[in-house]
Amino acid sequence: MDGNGRWAEMRGQPREAGHKAGSAAVRRIVRISRRLGIDALTLYAFSEQNWGRPPGEVDALMGLLHEYLLSERDEILENGIRLVAIGDLSRLPPFVREVLDPLRDASKINGRMTLALALSYGGREEIARAAQDLAKDVAQGRLDPNAIDVEALAARLPSLSVGDPDLIIRTGGEQRLSNFLLFGAAYAELAFSDVLWPDYTENDLFEAIACYQKRERRFGNVGKGALSNPEAIVTSPIMGA
Ligand code: FPP
Repeated sequence: MDGNGRWAEMRGQPREAGHKAGSAAVRRIVRISRRLGIDALTLYAFSEQNWGRPPGEVDALMGLLHEYLLSERDEILENGIRLVAIGDLSRLPPFVREVLDPLRDASKINGRMTLALALSYGGREEIARAAQDLAKDVAQGRLDPNAIDVEALAARLPSLSVGDPDLIIRTGGEQRLSNFLLFGAAYAELAFSDVLWPDYTENDLFEAIACYQKRERRFGNVGKGALSNPEAIVTSPIMGA
């Protein structure tokens, strides 16, 4: 959800105003995602690296998160949404945990959609933590090192508890992942939008999904067309793509 700061600067407003407008976009996009029947939506709301921002901006973001969780609580529960949080939650201030934890708990039996908030999240940090867990199990004799494979690692990544991401959308014009869902992103489709996050609308999401629906996902295999033509399998220059 990139572009809040620029959105505010373009209007001569403080960056915090951009984050506030960004919160309104979060409400819009969560609502439409639920109506579209999306199974899981993960929002990169605050990265591990975002702690390095000026204290006033960090405080404003924590305040907005708190406000969001309070104001959306009823809608989340009434609409069968399961709220989960991924990242180093121990770094979040107590006033955020006080609303986040009960909502995670109260919504855990819900099954219509999972809304995952990435908070104090970093893809590299998540992988490092999973590696630490695996190493501890090996050291204590609970795990054979030869059993450590892609699935074993993936099973220790909270971001993949909802499955691999199908589509990762980044707004705000930059074309990079910035430490988001690194392991799960292996075969995710990527969509980059120039729209700044506070301006991101339902229509922008429809467009991204429509574009995703036209893509052919090969997961390192050959395309469907090639499978019906054995010669193409041998000669295809796109094998491994
Ligand atoms: C990146 O834009 C955005 C963030 C670091 C925060 C995202 C937070 C929200 C959308 C609002 C609060 C979240 C919830 C779930 C209510 P940026 O500030 O880096 O923008 P810039 O690149 O234009 O400076």
